[in-house]
Amino acid sequence: MVKIAVIPGDGTGPEVVREGLKVLAAVAAQEGFAYETAEFDYGGERYLQTGKVISDEEVQELRAFDAIYLGAVGHPDVAPGILEKGLLLKLRFDLDQYINLRPVKLYPGVECPLKDKGPADIDFVVVRENTEDLYSGGGGFLRKGTPQEVATQEMIATRFGADRCLRYAFELTRRRRAAGKPGQLTLIGKTNVLTFASDLWWRAFNELGDSEFPDVTRDYNHIDAACMWFVKNPEFYDTIVVPNMFGDIITDVGAMIQGGLGVAAGGNISPDPDSVSMFEPMGGSAPRYTGQNVINPIAAIAALGMLLTVTGEQLGQAEVAAAGARIEQAITATCPKMDSQSAGRMGYGTDAVGDLVCEAL
Ligand code: IPM
Ligand code: MN
Repeated sequence: MVKIAVIPGDGTGPEVVREGLKVLAAVAAQEGFAYETAEFDYGGERYLQTGKVISDEEVQELRAFDAIYLGAVGHPDVAPGILEKGLLLKLRFDLDQYINLRPVKLYPGVECPLKDKGPADIDFVVVRENTEDLYSGGGGFLRKGTPQEVATQEMIATRFGADRCLRYAFELTRRRRAAGKPGQLTLIGKTNVLTFASDLWWRAFNELGDSEFPDVTRDYNHIDAACMWFVKNPEFYDTIVVPNMFGDIITDVGAMIQGGLGVAAGGNISPDPDSVSMFEPMGGSAPRYTGQNVINPIAAIAALGMLLTVTGEQLGQAEVAAAGARIEQAITATCPKMDSQSAGRMGYGTDAVGDLVCEAL
C-alpha cells in the first residue's frame, strides 16, 4: 500500500493535480499496486481564512506518508514569502528534503525555443541542494526604513550539506551511465568570486570524486557561463550538481529549454527512509489561468511519475517504480499529439491531456 499525501494548493494546482491523480488510478490498476491518498488544504485560501500556513505538528503528520504530491503554492492576495517560506520551504527544511531533483528533458513534439536543438540534445538532470545557501535564512535589517538602512542575507555552505548532495549526484551519474548516458558530473558555482562557499563545494567535489567516484568524469562551470551553455550547447550536460540559489535560477532556464513550466517537474527528495519526499510541477499557481482548463498538466503528471519511481525504489516495490517508468513513456507518446505546450495553446484542455496520457498508458 503506497500512502500519498496530496496538497493541491493554490490557483491551478488543483486542476493539474486532478489529472495526475487520474493517471495514478489508471497506472496503479495496470501495474497492480494498491495506494491510498489523503488530501490536505494547505495553501493560500486556508491561510486567508484561518491565518495559519502549516504547523510543526501538521508537518509531522505528513511523515506517516510514503510521499507528498504538491500542486502549487502562491496566492495573489497573500504577501510574497508567507506561503513560499511558511509552506514550501518549511516542508523542504523540516523534512530535510536535501535534494531538489529536476530533470531537463525535451520530450518529442514539444516546441523548443532553441534553434536546431531536439530531444537528443536536451536530456540532462540537475541535482540542486535544497536546504542551505541563501535559502537558510540568516540575515536581517539594521536601521530599517531609514536612509542608512543595512540589509544582510547570509549564504551558508556546510561540508556536511555539500557532501551529502554531491554523493547523491555522483551516484545518480553512475546510474545514468549504466543506462547509456555519458557519466559526466558538472559542478556549477562561482569559484572566482565566492571564494569561501564555492571553494568549499569545489574541494568537496574533488575529494569525494577522487576517493569514491574516480570512474565519474568531473567538469565545472561558473554559474554565468552555465546559463550561456544551457542555451548554446545543452547537449554538453549529463548530470549537474549545484547549490540552492544558483540551482533555483538555472533550473528555470532548464525548464524553458525543455518547453516551459508546463512540462517541467521537480522532486524534493529526502533519501532518509524515515522522512518523506515531495514532488511538484515547477509551474506556479498561475492565478490568471485558474479554472480555465488551459494549463498543461504534463508537468504535474511527470511529477507523479517521479514520485512513483523514487518512492517505488525507496520502498523496494518494483511495480510502483515500473508505474513511474510507464508514465514517462506515456508522456513521451502523448507530447507529439499536442500542438504546442504553452498555456492555452495545447490544442487540448487540461483534462483532455490527462485523458490522452491515460490512453497512452
Ligand atoms: C522553486 C521555487 C521556490 C524556490 C520558491 C517558490 C520558494 O522557485 O521551487 O524553484 O525558490 O525554490
Ligand atoms: Mn524556482
